[in-house]
Amino acid sequence: MPEDMIKAPPAGVFAETVLSVTHYTDRLFAFRTERPASFRFRSGEFVMIGLEIEGKPLYRAYSIASPSWDDELEFFSIKVENGPLTSVLQHIRPGERLLMRKKPTGTLVNDALLPGKRLYMLSTGTGIAPFVSLIRDPETYEKFESVILTHTCRDVAELAYGHDIVAATRANELLGEMATEQLIHVPATTREDYPTRGRITTRIEDGSLFAGLGVPALDPETDRVMICGSMDMLRDCKALCEAAGLNEGANNKPGEFVVERAFVD
Ligand code: A2P
Repeated sequence: MPEDMIKAPPAGVFAETVLSVTHYTDRLFAFRTERPASFRFRSGEFVMIGLEIEGKPLYRAYSIASPSWDDELEFFSIKVENGPLTSVLQHIRPGERLLMRKKPTGTLVNDALLPGKRLYMLSTGTGIAPFVSLIRDPETYEKFESVILTHTCRDVAELAYGHDIVAATRANELLGEMATEQLIHVPATTREDYPTRGRITTRIEDGSLFAGLGVPALDPETDRVMICGSMDMLRDCKALCEAAGLNEGANNKPGEFVVERAFVD
């Protein structure tokens, strides 16, 4: 179809060509799109993306998984069988176009945290998306001495995306040294055998997370936390941060921990 035959997107919306799609499991996939030249965002932010379904645009909030310097945009998504958006989005192919609202936002950004020694990124499932943006941003390593990315999933196959990005980041010409020296990746499962097992909340409560890292328990003086997962996971992790004396931050009032819900269709 000639370019001028393709319907123009509504005002305030970009229509970006999909460049690649990678399916990790029957529940998870990642895809990359072109990045509009005028689109600016901070690593860790989310944006509304969508498709026209039965003649109507349908949008959901997705964290941008690529860092702010990247020429392309990357997203990591769950597939929900009857999910209004993901049941269609999971079939997207290179060359097709994705709708994206023009304004990014979010609290999982370096600006919303006070400086500290250690940054903990607590993620479950697709909640890793904003963190794989931040671990590819040099600013994260300039602000924190160590960056601890915890990714807890039901089974081993669901950890593959995180493993791939961490490995690629450590091999990257510009980020490799920082990511090798300062980034600690802590993958874990809850429903399948794996060297590290158990919910992140359990491993914080019983101290095994800190013992494994060889560091003291959460301390508002030195530690900062970003949390991204399901509503229940956020609530429980937030309670643990507050019990340790950390205060919640926001863009206009940086604090010691920040929270954001991972996309669920
Ligand atoms: P579990 O297997 O014990 O339910 P999901 O794919 O359902 O979003 O879950 C992703 C991961 O988050 C799973 O390992 C799951 O553990 C874990 N999880 C679910 N609820 C919580 C919670 N309230 N606190 C911490 N982890 C949770």
